Amino acid sequence: MKLHVEPITRRLTGTVTIPGDKSIGHRSLLFSLLSATPVRVLGLGDGADNGRSAKAITALGATIVRDGAGLVITGTGLDGLRAPSAPIDCGNSGTTIRLLCGLLAGQRFATTLFGDESLSKRPMRRVIEPLAAMRASITGQGSGADVTPPLTVGPATGPLAPLDYVLPMASAQVKTAILLAGLYADGDTAVTEPGPSRDHSERMLAYLGAPLTVTGRRTVISTRGWNRRLACDGFEVPADPSSAAFLVAAALIAGGELRLPGVCINPTRTGFLDAITAMGGHVAIENSRAAGPETVADLVVSGPPQELRAITIGGDLAVRSIDELPILAVLAARARGTTIVRDAEELRVKESDRVESTCAMLRAFGIRCESRPDGFTVEGQPDRPLTAARVHADGDHRIAMAAAVAGLVADGLTQIDDADNVATSYPGFAAALTSLGANVATIA
Ligand code: S3P
Repeated sequence: MKLHVEPITRRLTGTVTIPGDKSIGHRSLLFSLLSATPVRVLGLGDGADNGRSAKAITALGATIVRDGAGLVITGTGLDGLRAPSAPIDCGNSGTTIRLLCGLLAGQRFATTLFGDESLSKRPMRRVIEPLAAMRASITGQGSGADVTPPLTVGPATGPLAPLDYVLPMASAQVKTAILLAGLYADGDTAVTEPGPSRDHSERMLAYLGAPLTVTGRRTVISTRGWNRRLACDGFEVPADPSSAAFLVAAALIAGGELRLPGVCINPTRTGFLDAITAMGGHVAIENSRAAGPETVADLVVSGPPQELRAITIGGDLAVRSIDELPILAVLAARARGTTIVRDAEELRVKESDRVESTCAMLRAFGIRCESRPDGFTVEGQPDRPLTAARVHADGDHRIAMAAAVAGLVADGLTQIDDADNVATSYPGFAAALTSLGANVATIA
């Protein structure tokens, strides 16, 4: 699938309902499998990645029934999972495969997990090492630099061993895998992380009644004396800030009267809003309110194209905006000065090597961009349009959507090839931009 993007001729105007947060969606599904009582899930996104987690939990014994505006998931409880009758296809979804590793590590049966071409290249040693230290059995492909899918997880022969683990990288997927395995451990499982990775698992597991305590960057699951029961009435999945970021950026550089209701503003996810503020941009945060264990608000951008200045993104801010760095790079291309992104080596192991794919995408628009081992630099071009480009998205949804936003301020028609995977997180992306007044076509 290709995207054709024409330069914008008027401000982006309207209200868009952004689909449910992908990270929270995965957790709503996978954690509901472990619930002793049915869980109502409202607002689950329609992306293919969440669809993979939904299929996985049905293969493991859950039932999912549509009910009005939401779903009712009847899980198996912690100790009632069923051995799947076939290997589980995780598609493009790193979160599905890594969280399942943790969830399945303590089961008495073996499960094989596999994925698409991109997922088959992604590093799994980061989950295998700590889980193996808990005496789980996980095997994968390759013995060289890393281990990759397909993976076979389990069977466990008894309770897993307790672990006190310091994560080598800030990764919510690895942290969650260990915490889920910790539910099946005999004693305390502790994870300490070097940076503020998203904390949805901690919030949602506590909401379900898991024996979990968070102290600063250290989270402990303590199973001694616990009744092994997880339950809650339901989860409301807020709008995804990572998807919202593309429309926010579009309205900032093209001008807009844009409202995005009910976006998750968990501070571990809003690094992009802090980066925009530091660049001199303005996004209003209105109607902030609780949604279960999360907080949501409406994001509003209004006025003519905003003047932005270059900044340096590193440290905790890089962690808190890790998935938004490709779209922040597009904003940097419209900012005055040279933006530096550092401490973001994790970008190299996302759905594509996002250091290289972000640089290649910006260069196609005539922007000077240099990669660094841990990030990139972008020389902004605020005074004239970008050069209309033909971009290869490298099968990466966030590169395709970032390129589409850049195309709005280019000097002609932009074509984005290999954009099918936009559907992994935001199938309605092109339609949303079109509804706001842009001209974005999807070509089969
Ligand atoms: C995610 C965690 C992050 C993020 C990914 C979703 C999650 O990955 O980039 O898109 O839902 O836990 P890492 O855990 O590899 O940092």
